[in-house]
Amino acid sequence: MTDIQHDRLLIIDFGSQVTQLIARRLRELNVFCEIHPYNAVDDAFLTAFAPKAVIFSGGPDSVTRPGSPRPPASVFDLGVPILGICYGQQVMMEMLGGKVEGGKITGGGGTAEFGRAFVAPNGTLPLLQGWFEEDKEQVWMSHGDHVSRIAPGFEVFGTSPNAPYAITADTARNFYAVQFHPEVHHTPNGARLYENFVRLAGFKGDWTMRAYRAEAVANIRAQVGDKQVICGLSGGVDSSVAAALIHEAIGDQLTCVFVDHGLLRKDEGREVVAMFRDHMNLKVIHADEVELFLGQLEGQSDPETKRKIIGGLFIDVFQKYANEIEGAEFLAQGTLYPDVIESVSFSGGPSVTIKSHHNVGGLPEKMGLRLVEPLRELFKDEVRALGRELGLPASFIGRHPFPGPGLAIRCPGEITREKLEILREADAVYIDQIRKHGLYDDIWQAFCAILPVRTVGVMGDGRTYDFACALRAVTSVDGMTADYYPFSHEFLGETATRIINEVPGINRVTYDITSKPPGTIEWE
Ligand code: XMP
Repeated sequence: MTDIQHDRLLIIDFGSQVTQLIARRLRELNVFCEIHPYNAVDDAFLTAFAPKAVIFSGGPDSVTRPGSPRPPASVFDLGVPILGICYGQQVMMEMLGGKVEGGKITGGGGTAEFGRAFVAPNGTLPLLQGWFEEDKEQVWMSHGDHVSRIAPGFEVFGTSPNAPYAITADTARNFYAVQFHPEVHHTPNGARLYENFVRLAGFKGDWTMRAYRAEAVANIRAQVGDKQVICGLSGGVDSSVAAALIHEAIGDQLTCVFVDHGLLRKDEGREVVAMFRDHMNLKVIHADEVELFLGQLEGQSDPETKRKIIGGLFIDVFQKYANEIEGAEFLAQGTLYPDVIESVSFSGGPSVTIKSHHNVGGLPEKMGLRLVEPLRELFKDEVRALGRELGLPASFIGRHPFPGPGLAIRCPGEITREKLEILREADAVYIDQIRKHGLYDDIWQAFCAILPVRTVGVMGDGRTYDFACALRAVTSVDGMTADYYPFSHEFLGETATRIINEVPGINRVTYDITSKPPGTIEWE
């Protein structure tokens, strides 16, 4: 839990795949909310959290199953508005004296329902302001069980052919229950429902990046006092925004360490250090450890071995520089909210999702450092908004993600300095092409990989025997799934020609059209 001084909304998670979307919709309304798994929410938690409203998420279980998830009964005595969604609706009905059943009920209606459905109105309700301007609303259903009897005090305000209790409410207590998922895009007017709910609950919508910045600065000062903080700066958006924010809070008490492992893109090290040191006046140690990293990687071609070598060296190097900073007691990390949300696990207690790729994982314990994580409450797009608020250049904030092991995982097989140099040049031409064609912001991530194969070509009158490279560009929301970007043939042809003409060492260009799954975004 944070010590943010805003009205807060509590989302009790019952394990739905789309719980995070509820939080997104609320954040878009400038409402501060946190997601907590049902089994972490007890009476003491509710008292400490003091929510101004509560939402019960959907979930995969059946409330008819003995032992299935429930919130503490005291949640209904808080005197705050509650919205139950899908499984959350059924939990609410069951606990307040209604009935939930599986399968089809006799006499029509009330059965399992998956996908698009249409809800028709049944009376008016402030929660539904702006709904039903047509005679029905499209919604997204995904439920096996159904409510067969609503709880005392509830009335029906919307029905669908298969859900006679699609929208119900106990207006005296401000309890609302919907069978569908208003948070997904397939419920086109769903955001309006959240907007009405938070308005009814009295939220002021004061969760803005400006307010967050001021509070975060105050929190960092209170946490750190007069101690020193070190921060591993990767040049990525998260660590950059974290560093800029902490610098605003404590100035020269922050020292950043930028490790150049020789696996960066063209000009990257110089640009990152110039921006932070020269333009933003941060204390930045530019750790040139190219020889160390490339030396240890020599002769290695197994992807996991490469990753392990890089990860291990990274920690050693970071520790070496950090030890030089007298009085360092804190380590800053750009951990984001999706990394810390506890997910509901039905195989035994809640599990915590931890950023698996983190480059300095394990360091805080090893070095006896405490963590400063000023982005822990934010989603990625909020981090970008905060970066803009802090004055970081737009070109920097919108950069595509870049992996910690850098070009090592874009150089399948053995890594050589020659291959890295060729790769850097080819990648730079490719990205230049993407920018020139105005496509950079439409693409989630784009890069070039150098393949461990030489192919025969002909240039002028001569034979060439050079490397082939693969271009990769994907669209994605979170990197978990991805699709290849549908470049035009003209773009691909022009880019291939430029790379072959401008990059000595490459004589063949291919375009990778694998989606994820079954592929991964990176080549290794
Ligand atoms: P994959 O290749 O797993 O990549 O589909 C998904 C996203 O994660 C990035 N990635 C990494 N980031 N350290 C990182 O910091 C890593 O070891 C690593 N491996 C993959 C990748 O660039 C993509 O954005």
